[in-house]
Amino acid sequence: MLMNYTNSLDFARQQDSLDPLRRFRSQFIIPQHDGKDAMYFTGNSLGLQPKRVRDYIGKELDNWASQAVEGHFRGDAPWVRYHEQFEEPLARIVGAKPHEVVAMNALTVNLHLLLVTFYQPTTTRYKLLCEAGAFPSDQYAFETHIRSRGLNPDNVIIEISPRVGEHTLRTDDILSAIANHHDSLALVMLSGVQYYTGQVFDMASITKAAHAVGALVGFDLAHAAGNIPLALHEWNVDCAAWCSYKYLNSGPGNISGVYIHERHANNTELPRYAGWWGNDLSERFQMKKGFRAAHGAHSWQLSNGNILAMAAHKAALDVFSETSMDTLRTKSETLTGFLEFVIEDVARERIDIITPKDKTQRGCQLSLFVQPNGRAIFEHLSEHGVIVDWREPNVIRAAPAPLYNSFEDVWRFGSILKEALEKYHA
Ligand SMILES: Cc1ncc(COP(=O)(O)O)c(C=O)c1O
Repeated sequence: MLMNYTNSLDFARQQDSLDPLRRFRSQFIIPQHDGKDAMYFTGNSLGLQPKRVRDYIGKELDNWASQAVEGHFRGDAPWVRYHEQFEEPLARIVGAKPHEVVAMNALTVNLHLLLVTFYQPTTTRYKLLCEAGAFPSDQYAFETHIRSRGLNPDNVIIEISPRVGEHTLRTDDILSAIANHHDSLALVMLSGVQYYTGQVFDMASITKAAHAVGALVGFDLAHAAGNIPLALHEWNVDCAAWCSYKYLNSGPGNISGVYIHERHANNTELPRYAGWWGNDLSERFQMKKGFRAAHGAHSWQLSNGNILAMAAHKAALDVFSETSMDTLRTKSETLTGFLEFVIEDVARERIDIITPKDKTQRGCQLSLFVQPNGRAIFEHLSEHGVIVDWREPNVIRAAPAPLYNSFEDVWRFGSILKEALEKYHA
C-alpha cells in the first residue's frame, strides 16, 4: 500500500483509529514513564509481556501444586506432551509443516545442535559460510563447534562482509560467495534478519544457490520469527532456529524454536546429540538402552521441557493465533514506513538510516547511524520515555512492533528525537 504520511499527531491518531490490530495493544503490559505509556521500540530485543502470561503460568503452578508428578500425564495439557501444542502455531509463524518444528532449549544451544547434524565436513567439503557481522553468540558457536571437530576455524569459516562504504550485504555478493566456494562448501549459516542493520536476507535465493552447489543451509531467525512472514518449507531451507523473547513476546531467555525440513526431520539415522525426550514416546518410559529417534523435529529434543517457561510461550503464541503474519506484516510495513518518514522529517539528513529502504529487505527495525553525539541523543530519548537500544559504536535501533506499537508512539518518538537533535547536534 502506498501511503502519504504526515508528521502530525492528528495523522497518527487517525491511523491508529483505522488499525485493524489496535485491540491487541491492550493485551500487553506497556512500561510506564512519568505516569504515561513509554514509547517501547525494543520488541526486537525483548517483546512486551502479554497480560495473559500470568494466568497461564498460574495454571501450571496450580497443576504442580495439586497434581504434582501426575501433572505429566493428567489435565488438559499433560506436561509430557506440552511441547506438542507449539507445533501448529510455530509452523504458521515460520511457514513450515507442524512436524518440522519444535520448541526446545535456548537459541545458541540449538545452533550447536543443528551444527551437530547439519555440519558434516569431509576432507574436500568442509567450509561454513556466514556473515562477518553475525551476532557474537553465533560466531562463538561456529568457532568452538568447528574446533570441537578437530578443525581450524581459520580454514573453515568463510565470512562475507558488506562492500567498502556499505552497511548491508548485497544478495548478489552472497550468491557469488556461495558459487565461488562451490564443492568445498558444507553449510551456509546466515541470519534471516540481520540483528544490527535490520536487513532481511533473500532466504529463498540463498537456499537455492547453496543447494545448487551441494551445500546445506540454515538460518538464525532470532530477528525474523514473528517479525516477517517466512516460508521455510517452501523455500526448501534445511534447518533454522530462533528465540521466542523478541517479536514472539514469550519472556526473557525463554524457549527457542527449531525447524528441520521433513526430509531430514524424518530421517532417524541423522547424526545428533540425543536425550530421552527425543526418543520415540512409545518407548520413552521403558528406560531401555539404545536411542530410537522419533520422527519429526521433536526427536531433536534432549530434556523434558520447562513447563513454567513454556506456559508463557503458550500465552504469547495464543495472541499470535488471533491474527496472521500477513496482517501483522501489512501494519508493520506502514508503521515502520511512518517511523522512517518521521525520522527523515525531523533529522533532515543528520541521521543515516542504514536499514534498507526497500520494504522487502527489512522488517520492523530501523537502525539509525547517529553521529556526532549519538550516545547523548540515545540518553535523551531514554530519559524522555523512548525505549530504544544502543549498539556500539554509533547505532540506535528502533523497532515498532505491530502487535502493540501505535502510530502515536512513533509520532511522539519523532518529537522527542527532534528535541534531542536540537540539543546535541550541530
Ligand atoms: C541473532 C541472534 N542470535 C543468537 C542470539 C543469542 O540468543 P540466546 O541467548 O537465546 O542463545 C541472539 C540474542 O539476542 C540473537 O539476536
